[in-house]
Amino acid sequence: MVRIASALGVVMLSVALIILSLISYVSIKRDNIFTTPKYAGSGAPRMYMFHAGFRSQFAMKFLDPSFIPLTNALNEELQEKPSKWQFNRTAFLQQRKEILRYIDVAKNFTLTKSGVRVGQLMHYDYSSHKYVFSISNNFKSLLPDASPVLNKHYNVCAVVGNSGILTGSQCGPEIDKSDFIFRCNFAPTEIFQKDVGRKTNLTTFNPSILEKYYNNLLTIQDRNNFFLSLKKLDGAILWIPAFFFHTSATVTRTLVDFFVEHKGQLKVQLAWPGNIMQHINRYWKTKHLAPKRLSTGILMYTLASAMCEEIHLYGFWPFGWDPNTGKELPYHYYDKKGTKFTTKWQESHQLPTEFKLLYKMHEEGLTKLTLSHCA
Ligand SMILES: *[C@@H]1O[C@H](CO)[C@@H](O)[C@H](O)[C@H]1NC(C)=O
Ligand SMILES: *[C@@H]1O[C@H](CO)[C@@H](O)[C@H](O)[C@H]1NC(C)=O
Ligand SMILES: *[C@@H]1O[C@H](CO)[C@@H](O)[C@H](O)[C@H]1NC(C)=O
Repeated sequence: MVRIASALGVVMLSVALIILSLISYVSIKRDNIFTTPKYAGSGAPRMYMFHAGFRSQFAMKFLDPSFIPLTNALNEELQEKPSKWQFNRTAFLQQRKEILRYIDVAKNFTLTKSGVRVGQLMHYDYSSHKYVFSISNNFKSLLPDASPVLNKHYNVCAVVGNSGILTGSQCGPEIDKSDFIFRCNFAPTEIFQKDVGRKTNLTTFNPSILEKYYNNLLTIQDRNNFFLSLKKLDGAILWIPAFFFHTSATVTRTLVDFFVEHKGQLKVQLAWPGNIMQHINRYWKTKHLAPKRLSTGILMYTLASAMCEEIHLYGFWPFGWDPNTGKELPYHYYDKKGTKFTTKWQESHQLPTEFKLLYKMHEEGLTKLTLSHCA
């Protein structure tokens, strides 16, 4: 009886899989997401990838309208390992030139002392024009005299996104070999160093992090914790977008006070970009990428393109399953076990569309996108 039931189960599962494969094939054909001319042989792994795609397709069916199914292009890529990837310097230099046509990276990187005056009212890139932030003496005192990236050139840079795909990737040593490492949103590295590396040369810091992880610096303990986190970044750049959202205003004041109080004790270099998103957006719009908000990751790629001779991307993968194994993934590599994959970003980001573009750039040799294990 049990045997019959399980046999029936296997048959039903197989039929379901075949039907699903057909549906997926059709939808991939229709969407034509990645443009690869050829379909490789119908090996088992491909079937498996389709399967992996489905799970997620089901999970996100109504949540994620722009869901991108996996295709053979990506599948092949993952099987052949990144060894096949070749840098196309000509294409990269051409992209840099284009980016620099829209964005003065060294200038947009940070406001400088001489570029602002006390009492000047700043607006916010993503908030109503009615919201303002008055530049104080203290704020001005924290600005650098000159852009810290003016005339800076690095050979190979890593831009590390925070995707859960990094979990178990063992990419840490490879990332640490880079000449300059960009990270996003003050992501922790220490306890994940095997997978994400331990070095940091720049990390972004949305002022709201103070609210979320440091209790607005209300207690001595909170202040100590924050101080210790900053100490670990000695020499690195803390890139603080304080003028994107008006909701940052209060925490920005708390942050400014803290830095003024601890000046001299901290060696982290502060960078405070002004209203730069309109400029960044203009370039990506030419690539048909025009979401309400670009991700921090692609913003870092934009800045890196002017400073780096070659850019390698890690932790860029916005989906809830591992493309190598089909297993479920957390959204961030540092999310607590059991955290549900979040699709909250869809309110404003278009991560699948961004991913599609970055993947195309990878195929063209502009940048290397790592999606598999490094070891
Ligand atoms: C490199 O990129 C350039 C410009 O996009 C292109 O013309 C050239 O064919 C590419 N080279 C290779 C080897 O793919
Ligand atoms: C950003 O760069 C553009 C030029 O690409 C420049 O016009 C603009 O003033 C800069 N803005 C800031 C805030 O640095
Ligand atoms: C990048 O950071 C590491 C430490 O995290 C440091 O050893 C290295 O010199 C830095 N590189 C540059 C170019 O600043």
